[in-house]
Amino acid sequence: MVENTIEKLRSLRAEALQKISAAKTSDQLESVRVEYLGKKGKVSEVLAALKDLDADSRKKVGQISNEVKSVLEDGISSTRDQLQQSEMDAELKKDSLDSTAPGITYFRGKIHPIRQVLREAISILELAGLSAAYGPEVEFEDYCFDKLNFKPGHAARDMQATFFVKTDEGAKPLVLRTHTSPVQVRSLLTAAKNNFTLPIRIQAPGRVYRMDDDSTHAPMFHQIEGLAVDTSSTMGDLRAVLDFFFRKFFDQSVKIRFRPSYFPFTEPSAEVDVSCVFCAQKGCRVCKQSGWIEVAGAGMVHPEVFEACGWDPKKVQGWAFGMGVERLAMLKLGVPDLRLFFENRMSFLRGAR
Ligand code: DAH
Repeated sequence: MVENTIEKLRSLRAEALQKISAAKTSDQLESVRVEYLGKKGKVSEVLAALKDLDADSRKKVGQISNEVKSVLEDGISSTRDQLQQSEMDAELKKDSLDSTAPGITYFRGKIHPIRQVLREAISILELAGLSAAYGPEVEFEDYCFDKLNFKPGHAARDMQATFFVKTDEGAKPLVLRTHTSPVQVRSLLTAAKNNFTLPIRIQAPGRVYRMDDDSTHAPMFHQIEGLAVDTSSTMGDLRAVLDFFFRKFFDQSVKIRFRPSYFPFTEPSAEVDVSCVFCAQKGCRVCKQSGWIEVAGAGMVHPEVFEACGWDPKKVQGWAFGMGVERLAMLKLGVPDLRLFFENRMSFLRGAR
């Protein structure tokens, strides 16, 4: 009986050791452990039978079974270490970096071309002594038109297809500003309130809105306004500032010219042209063979505007100009269609400087 049990233990040992070394995964190894050393395992079964033996035999068998147990435990634990190591290696290999795989291209964000051109224009005008002033995009109709000498019902009001803003009965009528010129009104009113402080030298960059939408007009676009007021201010000064601006903005070789025009808030008024930046005045499609491109409106501040803002037109003079930023950007960047600036097409935006 004792010999049989010992024999049984030895053969279980051999059998188990073989299965341990054959295990290919730690799961397989674990089932071998359960099969032999688990509570209901084969070795445990033999040990359970010990209680039927006499004390002497129990001691003998007990000793051997402890040996078998510890041999199997050692075998299992060292095999488990090996298996776990190689399983981890395999796992790491799966997630490892393939340095030959093609990369994903990341694009750096860029400032929108309109914003770039606006910033450049602002900084050139700063060099010319005009500091930035801002007004609201939702503006009093009075500031947008009346105080700028647009007479009620005057055709010039319709020229700028206006978005009107709904207001409460009796509230001051509001519009989305159709131009940046109301910032002239705001600057004149503020300076008048501050003891008529002179000189006024401002530029007003910002968004404006008109009911327009085609390849050269958008319902929202940007303008920059200029205004200089002093006891003496001349059209010659205006010309010098614009000449300085356009040479710096486009190229030192550009020339400018003034053509007589009409705006309600200036007298005299002028359209400002630059020599064509595409053909150096040889004649091309952009300048329609004329050699000149219109880029701004300008003039001397109208006496009615001074009066509407509380100034005595006999004591002060001023000049003003206004220009469209999208138009400047199209000319500077050679962009043929205004809508490209608003479509947010990635290929276009990535090409931006
Ligand atoms: N506000 C005019 C427009 O949007 C542009 C303009 C013309 C502004 C002449 C001026 C100016 O300051 O003097 O069409």
